[in-house]
Amino acid sequence: MKKLTNKAILGSIIFSSSLNNIYLEKNALLVIGPNGKISDLIKRNEDRYHNEVRKYRYSQSLVEIKGHQYLLPGFTDLHIHAPQWPQLGKALDIPLEKWLQKYTFPLEAKFKDENFAHFVYEDLVRSLLRAGTTTAVYFGTIHQRATQILAEKCIKFGQRAVVGKVVMDNHSQCPDYYRDSSTRDALDDTETFTKFVEELQKNNEGKIYAAITPRFIPSCTNEALYELGKLAKQSNVFVQTHCSESDWEHQHVLDRCGKTDTEALQEFGLLKKSTILAHGNFLSEQDMDIIKAQQANIAHCPLSNFFFSDAVFPLRRALRKGLSIGLGTDIAGGPSCSVLDTAKNTIFASRALESGVNPFVQREGRGLSNSRVSFKEAFYLATKGGAQVLSIPAGSFEKDFYFDAILIDTEVEHSRISLDKFIDSDEDMIQKLIMLSSRSNIVETWVGAVSV
Ligand code: GUN
Ligand code: FE
Repeated sequence: MKKLTNKAILGSIIFSSSLNNIYLEKNALLVIGPNGKISDLIKRNEDRYHNEVRKYRYSQSLVEIKGHQYLLPGFTDLHIHAPQWPQLGKALDIPLEKWLQKYTFPLEAKFKDENFAHFVYEDLVRSLLRAGTTTAVYFGTIHQRATQILAEKCIKFGQRAVVGKVVMDNHSQCPDYYRDSSTRDALDDTETFTKFVEELQKNNEGKIYAAITPRFIPSCTNEALYELGKLAKQSNVFVQTHCSESDWEHQHVLDRCGKTDTEALQEFGLLKKSTILAHGNFLSEQDMDIIKAQQANIAHCPLSNFFFSDAVFPLRRALRKGLSIGLGTDIAGGPSCSVLDTAKNTIFASRALESGVNPFVQREGRGLSNSRVSFKEAFYLATKGGAQVLSIPAGSFEKDFYFDAILIDTEVEHSRISLDKFIDSDEDMIQKLIMLSSRSNIVETWVGAVSV
């Protein structure tokens, strides 16, 4: 099934249109236009259904999916450290501030070598596509060329992506071997990188975007942050950074700026509709109000938070506030590159927050009540929610949305998924597919109706 443009697909589809609405449509007909977008969704109970199926069958443009296969929207990962790919699954033993200096900066510094960048980024982009990440938001490194190579790999392998050259110009936090050569160079390189991506966009509409990327406040000087804020105001590119991730980081900003991360980022001009704030574990009510007012967004990274934040992001509270949120793996801050895993971890983390985890504390005082999120909500955040953060029409099977999708096969060898149509309701089936699918069940991935 290489290319599905100008075809109609017949089979079972699962998608979510809003936080609490999830659908399993059996034998639905999904029509794909020449632009790789969905032009129609025809359900089994519609009057026109049989005629339409016949029409596409006669014109030999019908693609039929097997009874044990399910089409799901592709996933959006809102927070990935591309250069940390070789670190996935290790170096999880020390706190964030030590981890950066001991493991992460030495690894990221290696991307000065373009060959290394080619080697790592090629494997990364292909692996993430196979895991179902059809849209990826990447931090690169401080290196202009290596980060361009990352953008080129996304184009080459067909992944929709937002990519940023990381800014780190603060002498007191960044080592000599891994720091922008000057504040001016950091800003110039950011502009050059943005222009490079604008060129790439000319032949790749809707596929590649640039992000202004101050690593986090501790890594950057105030001057760089103000100037990046100006750049963000003048252009319509994305902004990405870390915000109130750990106790150390949160306190560092309070001590240095006399205000919270959120307040400081707003003052630097870095909070806007296209801003993605990773983590946000220690946001106050007022911080959330500011983020909401600025229409900025949050990348919730539940697995990484267990290792590096010692806290669970209060997702339920943020959803109640009406914040715009998607999911992030934070690779390799978390030892999984899968957004499907991240959706499950979102559920687990919310349950840990709700119940509390310390058995020596009395039941009543152990957790934060009303914190849990459901599998429906987690699935929405992994699919349409993440794409909405980026204002990209993807992550759902709705008219005029890109056909970015994965095919789940429940009968691959060693599959853990067993669905029973006599016992399982449609909702049970959806829940089982979300909770039990693993990498090996994803047998095909499409971006813009092109198999990747
Ligand atoms: N804060 C600044 N840099 C990083 C990073 O690479 N990973 C995580 N998790 N937090 C950060
Ligand atoms: Fe991160």
